[in-house]
Amino acid sequence: MRDLLTLIKQRQSSRCAFDPDRPVPKKALEDILEAACWAPTAHNMQNFEIVVVDDKKLLEKIREIHFPVSETFIQENYLQLSFSEEELKRKKTGVLSTMFPKSWLHPGLIAEHSSLNETDQPFLERHHQLLSCPLMVFLLYDPKRRAPGSDGDFLGVMSLGCVLENMWLMAASLAIGFHVVSALSGSSPEAELKRILHIPNHLSLAIAFRLGYPLASTSYLRVRRDIDNVTHHNGF
Ligand SMILES: Cc1cc2nc3c(=O)[nH]c(=O)nc-3n(C[C@H](O)[C@H](O)[C@H](O)COP(=O)(O)O)c2cc1C
Repeated sequence: MRDLLTLIKQRQSSRCAFDPDRPVPKKALEDILEAACWAPTAHNMQNFEIVVVDDKKLLEKIREIHFPVSETFIQENYLQLSFSEEELKRKKTGVLSTMFPKSWLHPGLIAEHSSLNETDQPFLERHHQLLSCPLMVFLLYDPKRRAPGSDGDFLGVMSLGCVLENMWLMAASLAIGFHVVSALSGSSPEAELKRILHIPNHLSLAIAFRLGYPLASTSYLRVRRDIDNVTHHNGF
């Protein structure tokens, strides 16, 4: 049990380029996909499909997809940022501002059409570089397999989180880097992605992630709220 908790705590986001020429071993990929299949889903609906992409040309096309940044994202993101490690340690939630380009750090200074402005070009290049990997996985939501009686299929959506976490933990146990790229789930990037991968219309992209072996250190300050701050015994 200790080992499981250790693995849960070690699982992390690897936000760096992965070696595009070092493939994820076939057996490792099978284990990750099997972990997905054995995830708990509401009513055992298994409301998902998975697309695995390791074709270099397709991966490059996916890396080229443009994802516009919404004003809502910039404003809500700003509220969750810490501008120093000390601030993050104190707050224990959110992320460091260094993860984002400068123009996203001032909610009043949103570039025209909410896209990145030219001062963020190095970020864009870094980002394109960062998305390098030998393999991407797309977890698709199938609303036809909805959880019975669940408003807005809330239970179905929760189930997809379980699928994601199972795959993430399996990858962590195999020392394979894992990076969620939720920007691809926006409506215009998703449409482009569906076109590239011939994904049927009724399915939507729940989450995309990259897998591979990191080319740089992936360690960074990770924080969590304390158990006592999160839990409420015998009432709120
Ligand atoms: C549904 C979901 C979407 C996420 N989207 C992104 C993303 O687009 N980019 C990213 O770098 N991390 C993304 N993450 C990772 C979280 O930012 C990360 O899990 C959190 O900051 C805690 O860090 P850790 O994974 O290293 O523990 C996402 C995680 C989840 C569960």
